Amino acid sequence: MSFDPGPSDESEESRTLSLLDRNRIPVHVGCVMDGNGRWAQKRGLPRTDGHAAGEAALMDTVEGCLDAGVRWLTVYAFSTENWRRPADEVRFLMHFNESLLTRRRDELDKKDVRICFSGRRDWRVPRRVMRRMDESAEQTKRNDRLTLTIAFNYGGRAEIVDAVRALVQNGVKPQDVSEKAISKHLYHPEAPDPDLVIRTSGEYRISNFLLWEIAYSELVFTDVLWPDFRREDLYKAIYEFQGRNRRYGKLGS
Ligand code: FPP
Repeated sequence: MSFDPGPSDESEESRTLSLLDRNRIPVHVGCVMDGNGRWAQKRGLPRTDGHAAGEAALMDTVEGCLDAGVRWLTVYAFSTENWRRPADEVRFLMHFNESLLTRRRDELDKKDVRICFSGRRDWRVPRRVMRRMDESAEQTKRNDRLTLTIAFNYGGRAEIVDAVRALVQNGVKPQDVSEKAISKHLYHPEAPDPDLVIRTSGEYRISNFLLWEIAYSELVFTDVLWPDFRREDLYKAIYEFQGRNRRYGKLGS
């Protein structure tokens, strides 16, 4: 579906937003924020500068969700596989999460954004980082305009394993293991399944992101590197989403 907002006096951003069908805004958008390292390398900077530049992209995407009326945004900030990166980069990402929350949580709170986390709470995540995550979640828990879930130390397979472990621990009988029972034991059971998942940086993979939840999500891939991603790119992805025919395994109408 080609995207051409045409000439106008309005800013490009608000023109793009005005092209969206307000009755078919995705309720839940997921983002695989990829390309930070390449963004930095292209500029001769250390990879970690790319992660730091990703903060502006994240904040603008949050604004875009608020303006468009998206109610849930889940972003992949650190995967269970990211521990295999060089120790310096891992350390940076841990502390960057903590500092981002310290710097941004009041601002997000004022915007009525609830901050949540999804992932394994294991010993590898420093206690201080965990504390900041808990405080941010606690401070914003009553907000309900947008739920921003930061998938941190998250893996889709690990989430399914943890759900099955919880079922076993609760003594659930084999005949009672169902899709509904597994869904109820995911990290964030009240979250609706994502309608739209966006992956940046020209990679066409899911990389262990929300494996259970994306069974019927629409996937949009863009070449934009995450640090360059802005609300305009979110609106373009939503526009593409609105051109899709979601059939959920049924025949089209
Ligand atoms: C993938 O890019 C990105 C990450 C592993 C980290 C994402 C983190 C941010 C965008 C910063 C916001 C952080 C928090 C905690 C909310 P990559 O490093 O794989 O890029 P590459 O594929 O170009 O190497």
